[in-house]
Amino acid sequence: MNRKTTYITTPIYYVNAQPHLGHAYTTVVADTYSRFSRLRGDDVRFQTGTDEHGDKIVEAAAKEQVEPRQYVDNISAMFRDTWPLLTIDYDRFIRTTDEDHIGVVRHILQKVYDSGDIYFDEYSGLYCTGCERFLIERELVDGKCPDHLVEPKEITEQNYFFKMSKYQQQLIDHITNNPEFVTPERYRNEVLSFLSDPLDDLCISRPASRLDWGIKLPFDENYVTYVWFDALINYLTGIGYPDGERFAHYWAGAEHLIAKDILKPHAIYWPTMLMAAGADLYQKLHVHGYWNVDETKMSKSLGNVVRPAQLVEDFGVDTFRYFILREMSFGLDASFSSDAIIARNNADLANDLGNLFSRSVSMIEKYCDSVLPEPDGTDSDTVLKDAALKMIRGYAQHMGDFKFHLGLQAVWEFVGEANRYIVVNEPWALARDESRQVRLHTVMYNLGESLRLLALVLKPVMPGTAEKMMHGLGIAPGSDVMQTLERGGEWGLSKPGTALQKSQSLFPRIDVKKRKDAAPAKPKPAQKKKKNGGGAIEFDQFKAVDLRVARVVAAERVAKSDRLLKLSVLAPEERTIVSGIAGSCQPEDLVGRNVVIVANLKPVKLMGILSEGMVLTAEYKDENGNDRLTLLAADQSVKPGSRIA
Ligand code: MSP
Repeated sequence: MNRKTTYITTPIYYVNAQPHLGHAYTTVVADTYSRFSRLRGDDVRFQTGTDEHGDKIVEAAAKEQVEPRQYVDNISAMFRDTWPLLTIDYDRFIRTTDEDHIGVVRHILQKVYDSGDIYFDEYSGLYCTGCERFLIERELVDGKCPDHLVEPKEITEQNYFFKMSKYQQQLIDHITNNPEFVTPERYRNEVLSFLSDPLDDLCISRPASRLDWGIKLPFDENYVTYVWFDALINYLTGIGYPDGERFAHYWAGAEHLIAKDILKPHAIYWPTMLMAAGADLYQKLHVHGYWNVDETKMSKSLGNVVRPAQLVEDFGVDTFRYFILREMSFGLDASFSSDAIIARNNADLANDLGNLFSRSVSMIEKYCDSVLPEPDGTDSDTVLKDAALKMIRGYAQHMGDFKFHLGLQAVWEFVGEANRYIVVNEPWALARDESRQVRLHTVMYNLGESLRLLALVLKPVMPGTAEKMMHGLGIAPGSDVMQTLERGGEWGLSKPGTALQKSQSLFPRIDVKKRKDAAPAKPKPAQKKKKNGGGAIEFDQFKAVDLRVARVVAAERVAKSDRLLKLSVLAPEERTIVSGIAGSCQPEDLVGRNVVIVANLKPVKLMGILSEGMVLTAEYKDENGNDRLTLLAADQSVKPGSRIA
């Protein structure tokens, strides 16, 4: 059977600015989709690159007082150097200054010229350098370009024009007959609405006397090619148009990914150019929204441009990848903030996924000597199996539809299900009862198998984390069951007897308070110095604190909180204490332990639960340098309720 081909592309980025969050988002999405397509069995090619000709670049180079050539080499290298930091794995990085690209642009221009779709004329129009195109009156807001907030320049010159208008009806028909040609739907509607007015022809040249940094027209050396006519063709060059085998193989699977800013060139110029060149149209155009920063447009002048390399350093690459894919509803705008990325790291990653992994692996270590046990074939428990298969179906559907946030939501529903499975099945209680060994083994196997399936679906989103999970589970990354959803997306493919490996925690929690403390300090109002030796207390004050030994009899996580555990303790009467130790302790490890509590604290409600007292903890740093809490313990022989004095 022939495999489906997928050819995914990003825009080629202008080299007049360094890579920022917006470029990183598009490229991470393309990488994720490329990896996901491989996982669903497609034959995939992924291309990104840089757009290096045109007015904008010449202006930027002049500002830096360097030649355009040197300037584009520098910035293009910055893009190329950034992508490995984000685990981007492309097949070709194309530059519009590459020799093969120049050849293909000239080939297409000649072909379209020969067929009569390019003509010479005088033109007068309003030109926006930021957009690199002539704008029409109705695109202006208060006489200015709405994207660049500058008045376009009136330019009159003789130029070459592409008969775009000739293809207007053909394009409308194509979009109407192929509802998935431009998605999400709001962008398809936008294009159709634009096409409801007559289309102008497209000016595709610039006089070399005004701009010589570009590709010379093959039929008139006094002109260079308009940068958009040049840039869009990169999608063909990169796969060997017109005669290359790759072109024959991959073009039918072409899917372009862009943001809403460049919808018109991709949905109107490009398909009509392809029609004129006699080539098939691309399959799909996926259009996403814009990232703002703290609800504000990202811009150099506001000084709020977010650099991906910095984010990776601050939060880790997989936290960054997960965050941008989970946080943005594809097609809509989203807002970036450090608080939002920390919240996702601590809740979804450190708490939900990270804890599920570390608890499950440490229980298999403890109860099964680090070897995945044999499940009981006659056991009727299919809770996790059913939830896992539902997750894989939802995930595959949404990721294939470019609804990454929904795909990840489906995965995290399953993570929640697996965490609940631990609470409900209480493996620590099964482990205390010899007669329940077989059941314990089934529960442990089911958890191990759930983690394998999670590693499989997370491969496209967080490749490094998926690899760490596989390592911990003792699964070789090249193992057959981890290559495609078809071969690995079934229940029960983990091999009993597999030895688990020691692994580190997947996601350290990020301490918001510490980060804020580490930020450059804002001047604080001078504090009054306390008398009394810096806050020493009288013995009577200390005596008023009722410290007691308490025995933990039950422990569970508090729903919707990544910090809190609900403990039932005997001291000696039974009481409930809500404690902020979930990031450092597993509930099952606490049951049966003697801890120290403040017994006479005024009760308070935390997340709707009445907490009667406080558990004492000590702060320390673990081997990875993360802040942890440990509970102060009292010897097991001490009776619950004993006073500490
Ligand atoms: N060179 C053209 C594209 C030619 S493609 C044949 C160009 N370059 S660009 O550097 O301006 O990149 C625009 C693209 O960068 C957007 O379409 C989007 O992919 C990404 N983004 C830039 N800023 C963005 C945000 N603030 N938010 C999300 N993505 C954005 O246009």
